[in-house]
Amino acid sequence: MALDSVSTDNNSLQSICYRRGSLQLLDQRKLPLETIYLEIRDSADGWSAIREMVVRGAPAIAMAAALSLAVEVFNLNAFSGTAADAASFLGNKLEYLVSSRPTAVNLSDAAAKLKEIISKAAATASEANSVFQAYIEAAEIMLKDDVATNKAIGSYGASFLQNQLKNSKFSVLTHCNTGSLATAGYGTALGVIRALHSEGVLERAYCSETRPFNQGSRLTAFELVHDRIPATLIADSAAAALMKDGRVSAVIVGADRVAANGDTANKIGTYSLALCAKFHNILFYVAAPLTSIDLTLSSGQEIVIEERSAKELLCSRGGLGEQVAASGISVWNPAFDVTPANLITGIITEKGVVTKAGADDAFDIKDFIQKTA
Ligand code: MRU
Repeated sequence: MALDSVSTDNNSLQSICYRRGSLQLLDQRKLPLETIYLEIRDSADGWSAIREMVVRGAPAIAMAAALSLAVEVFNLNAFSGTAADAASFLGNKLEYLVSSRPTAVNLSDAAAKLKEIISKAAATASEANSVFQAYIEAAEIMLKDDVATNKAIGSYGASFLQNQLKNSKFSVLTHCNTGSLATAGYGTALGVIRALHSEGVLERAYCSETRPFNQGSRLTAFELVHDRIPATLIADSAAAALMKDGRVSAVIVGADRVAANGDTANKIGTYSLALCAKFHNILFYVAAPLTSIDLTLSSGQEIVIEERSAKELLCSRGGLGEQVAASGISVWNPAFDVTPANLITGIITEKGVVTKAGADDAFDIKDFIQKTA
């Protein structure tokens, strides 16, 4: 990966800076103390930036991958193949990018959609350049659409919660980072919190640290402070006490992959929060774009959970700092867990909120998608 830091701004929430031919990613490993953008020149840079957590969050990694390849093909000096060769060049690079992180479906969903566009372009194009051009335009549209999607999630979620809770003001808990930094802007679960705040009904947002990588304390806290939203950071282990004390009326989290029945893979610790919420009769919502839904999986049992390096637990700052754990201890470090649908009250999407019929344990997301298409 190219390590040149290309711009600094002490307060940036923009994780992806793209203009045709150039891509810079905010190095989220350095937040909140330093604001450094890394120049991404090609798909190899994109792959490493995703794998090494320069950029993270399901929608953001899909866009970073797609745009890293857009930059690579825009800057190609020469390509001496046919339109079909260009399509297979792009297809192979997309496969490679998908291998960077396995759990978030947004990445493979984006790759599949882009491949479809490429093969349609290759079927009619007379030269490779037209295929590259079609690819670049499609990747750029994905970036543009994401903010509108998130704003719709925020608006549906905020109205739905106000209807459910009826109180004039209420507090919510969120986990991991699902904000501007995890998307092209605004965010999913954090987008709902932003909308609640702007509608004047948010008493307070609580964010959990989200060990071991601390996306909550480093990134969500950074975004909440940036937006002057009343907010409090808690240790992950304080969530049950927070709920028992009646300090929150709802939990809102994001998603990396939602199966057809609503089982949801999200940052490790989400499942514990859902169990606590159920015990304390607290609403538990997943906020996610339709690109996070994987209708090919009937349940969450089939979701592949990424396991990350032991170093994230053995050393401080999610593996970036000094050793804190005893040498010789073995480590299990799953990056995500699966919350079963029966613990989830509703799934907030850009098309509305998916709810369960009566006492059902599962959601019928396919039906929701068909009805809202
Ligand atoms: O490992 P990360 O930081 O990529 O995990 C991110 C999450 O689990 C988010 O909650 C999820 O991707 C939704 S982001 C809008």
